[in-house]
Amino acid sequence: MAVIGGEIDKNIVRLEYDRGVAWVTLNRPEKRNAMNPAMSLRMLEILDEVEADDRCGVMVLTGEGSAFSAGMDIKEYFRDMKDQPRIVTIKVRRLNYEWQWRRLRYFAKPTIAMVNGWCLGGAFLPVVSCDLAIAAEDAQFGLSEVNWGIIPAGNVSRAVAETMRTRDALYYIMTGELFDGRKAAEMGLVNEAVPRERLRERVRELADVLLARSPEVLKAARDAFKRVRLLDWDLSEDYLISKQEQLWYIAGEEREEAFRQFLDEKSFKPGLGVYKRPRKE
Ligand code: COA
Repeated sequence: MAVIGGEIDKNIVRLEYDRGVAWVTLNRPEKRNAMNPAMSLRMLEILDEVEADDRCGVMVLTGEGSAFSAGMDIKEYFRDMKDQPRIVTIKVRRLNYEWQWRRLRYFAKPTIAMVNGWCLGGAFLPVVSCDLAIAAEDAQFGLSEVNWGIIPAGNVSRAVAETMRTRDALYYIMTGELFDGRKAAEMGLVNEAVPRERLRERVRELADVLLARSPEVLKAARDAFKRVRLLDWDLSEDYLISKQEQLWYIAGEEREEAFRQFLDEKSFKPGLGVYKRPRKE
């Protein structure tokens, strides 16, 4: 079986640009967007493309049809692997992890997961790896692994530990019960849940808020928050100061402009919103 290699099916993930946003849509609705090796290959290709494309200031990840994603493809990723040499299994796993968290967690552009429907098992990983997540109120989430005899591996448990409270996490890991978008928001797995008909509009609004801010500052702020959680206070202080001083050079001009608008021109108040960014030709 050609698990990896050969032509990449471009249509398995759709990429569209619209006013600063790259909409990335898992596009295997007939299989509820279950994630298979072909999808991983295409996602890696898309991440490379999007990070280098100026048409993208914010990337949104979502799914076509009734699912965000029904998790890992149980046939292609689990059952078919039984007959493969171990090295193939290892390579296929590496492909998944590469996009689902290694690339996504520290992606060059801010990321929003737009959870439109079923979000099961392995699908938690890209959702948590995105910086922000907005769900439809009636989207259905579940750590269904226990229902069919595996554990939330592939770093799903790590992702869950990052976002959910211990009791909630263990409850859903151990029962495999479904919960909806409202509950996901209440537990902190997603930022908010909105009525389905408002989902795209709300994600667009949020993307516009991010697009109005300096991409360099956002990148430093996102990375810094994620990194310092793993550091002790002394190292964290040093890391943050270094990052801040690095930004002084990278985004110094913009900050000077913000100083000017607040302190001299008095045309903006930092506590109330963002300064008017100078246009870059
Ligand atoms: N892996 C492989 N195939 C999957 C899949 C998965 N994770 N999720 C769905 N599919 C396939 C089904 O086998 C079916 O294929 P078929 O048309 O060839 O029979 C097709 O997608 C549609 O699925 P179906 O179950 O008929 O859709 P539904 O809308 O009635 O139910 C789900 C949706 C998500 C509840 C159900 O498909 C499901 O439980 N999927 C498995 C979810 C899971 O446990 N994932 C964890 C993996 S880590």
